[in-house]
Amino acid sequence: MPCREQTQAVYPFRDFNMKVFITIAFAAAAAATDLLIPLYQFPANNGQVWSPIEQALTDNPNLNAKIIINPNNGPGNGIDDPQYVAGTQALGSHPNAQMVGYVHTSTDFGQTRCNVPYSQIEADIRTWSTWVSRGIPIQGIFIDEAPTNTANNCVEYMRNLTDLIRNDPDILFPQRLVIFNPGGTGTLQPYYDLNPTYIVSLETCFVVPERAGGEYDQCDPAFPNWERYDHDGYGSSIDNVLFPNIGQVNAPRTAVLVHGFHDTNGPSANLQATEEVLRNMIRNVVQRRIGATFFNTAGYHQFSDGPASIQVVARLLSEANAGSL
Ligand SMILES: *[C@@H]1O[C@H](CO)[C@@H](O)[C@H](O)[C@H]1NC(C)=O
Repeated sequence: MPCREQTQAVYPFRDFNMKVFITIAFAAAAAATDLLIPLYQFPANNGQVWSPIEQALTDNPNLNAKIIINPNNGPGNGIDDPQYVAGTQALGSHPNAQMVGYVHTSTDFGQTRCNVPYSQIEADIRTWSTWVSRGIPIQGIFIDEAPTNTANNCVEYMRNLTDLIRNDPDILFPQRLVIFNPGGTGTLQPYYDLNPTYIVSLETCFVVPERAGGEYDQCDPAFPNWERYDHDGYGSSIDNVLFPNIGQVNAPRTAVLVHGFHDTNGPSANLQATEEVLRNMIRNVVQRRIGATFFNTAGYHQFSDGPASIQVVARLLSEANAGSL
């Protein structure tokens, strides 16, 4: 299978003792996989509800976390909400956390991309920049409902947004991070060519049955093409679905997000959602040099419930990055 050959070609060290030295030498540089946390949870109790995330950052100082802040499908009036201010100030005080502000490009829930008027999405980005002048270190922008093809003049729209975030003298994000979320594969090379920090080119589900009372966490039967993560074995979703689409060369600028990690991923691998399975999945993501990843038990609205609690996911990713698994 071509995918397998590609994988071996890029990891020629894996069967040699050399691997140990190489892993250590580059562990702090390009090889590490970051966390990318879609923090779609209201910071209740003056941000206290986000304390499990803070704890995970403290416990894993070598792990970098990009954290998506989203008060109201964009900045909304979050900067005037004391709970958002407290929560983001607390997160921002962690040197290994980089917050990015949420915006989106679609007026019809993703059916048409890049149809939010440019002036409007630009205004949202400038609003995010005001958070920086008010003491909240927003480091860049997460653009949701990013295009999966070149329709609707999207390449120019995304180029302009990337330019704005990266180069506008009035934009204050210290790191000027740019993350696109097309939410799936497609014609993405024109967007990789804009050199964003990451593109979320695989955002999918693990589980077949929705958890009782679940919230957007299963492989929705309305979307039969959703990839049940690693249903053909560890690494299979990346090797068989992601890489043939985006090209393995783009792995370091790619994020892989998986929600609904509970119960089982069904045939043919029929993996059970245990910590051991999670460890193997995360290790396989890191081995493929994916730039950022996240696994969540449900649908990104709570972070303490297992098996994929933030504590466990951060620890396993940190260990995988250190080559200690
Ligand atoms: C992108 O920016 C150029 C130059 O400012 C402008 O002419 C063009 O209309 C913009 N395109 C979009 C889609 O916003």
